[in-house]
Amino acid sequence: MNEVSISAPVVRPQQAGIPASKNAQEARAAENDPRRAEVKNLSFYYGDKQALKDVSFPIVDRKVTALIGPSGCGKSTLLRCFNRMHDLYPGNRYDGEIRLYPENINIVSSEVDPMIVRLRIGMVFQKPNPFPKSIYENVAAGLWVRGIRDRKLVDERVEWSLQKAALWDEVKDRLKESAYGLSGGQQQRLCIARALAPDPEMLLLDEPTSALDPIATSKIEELVSTLSDVVTVIIVTHNMQQAARISHFTAFMHIGVMVEYGVTERLFTNPTDKRTLDYITGRFG
Ligand SMILES: Nc1ncnc2c1ncn2[C@@H]1O[C@H](COP(=O)(O)OP(=O)(O)OP(=O)(O)O)[C@@H](O)[C@H]1O
Ligand SMILES: [Mg+2]
Repeated sequence: MNEVSISAPVVRPQQAGIPASKNAQEARAAENDPRRAEVKNLSFYYGDKQALKDVSFPIVDRKVTALIGPSGCGKSTLLRCFNRMHDLYPGNRYDGEIRLYPENINIVSSEVDPMIVRLRIGMVFQKPNPFPKSIYENVAAGLWVRGIRDRKLVDERVEWSLQKAALWDEVKDRLKESAYGLSGGQQQRLCIARALAPDPEMLLLDEPTSALDPIATSKIEELVSTLSDVVTVIIVTHNMQQAARISHFTAFMHIGVMVEYGVTERLFTNPTDKRTLDYITGRFG
């Protein structure tokens, strides 16, 4: 990390090529919107190693929240807390709360079944990971797991999800073909459709475009922008232009700490913390 003297001229994000969020007005209006969740004094430990330190921030309902910060700062760790992925490995420990509304339950509490949390909060990873099955079966899988067997209902839901994931037109005539025959960008949209099918309350996206070319990336970005009509999204990205383009709110993390959270346009144009300014203007990270 480079030290910057206090008297150094401030480089505004626009000068660094970061466009202001198109959603700025909407985001401002949304500041008082209902919350889908709230992270409260959350710490997380991989055995003895503390990876999250007393993190607190809100997740506004049906908006896109971007998580940004330098490599190793804890973005993926935080995202994985939301669907209790860490429970799959021994020695991991949560401290604090992630309150899910409207029920107001603490989803990282040991009293809450991780399977229930995973049914309600879907996740899409950096690398597309379709099952070695047909396109149709990939999307229907999450419905079958939930006991939904009615053929007509499953068909309708598969189509709805593929439409929402902007993939329907490309695959509607080949639903029975293997998902492995799709391009990387199509596979990632398929994974998003798979996550959307069971109607999750929240969708977690961990760098969903980092393995994709610019065209596939812009398709996913368009898709994420429209998804907040139906689901609350948290997206991790290293691409600050992407965060500025598609998110309503942004949270900046640094070494396990939540440094700054706010309306995306404000955070990118007028950050309150020097670490945020240094990061968004490319001085470190
Ligand atoms: N399974 C693990 N066991 C121990 N430490 C881990 C484990 N996974 C991650 N960490 C550590 O936790 C910290 C946060 O890692 P994390 O993967 O959440 O960072 P990140 O912000 O997602 O980084 P990147 O941008 O590179 O994906 C790092 O110091 C990392 O080394
Ligand atoms: Mg990560």
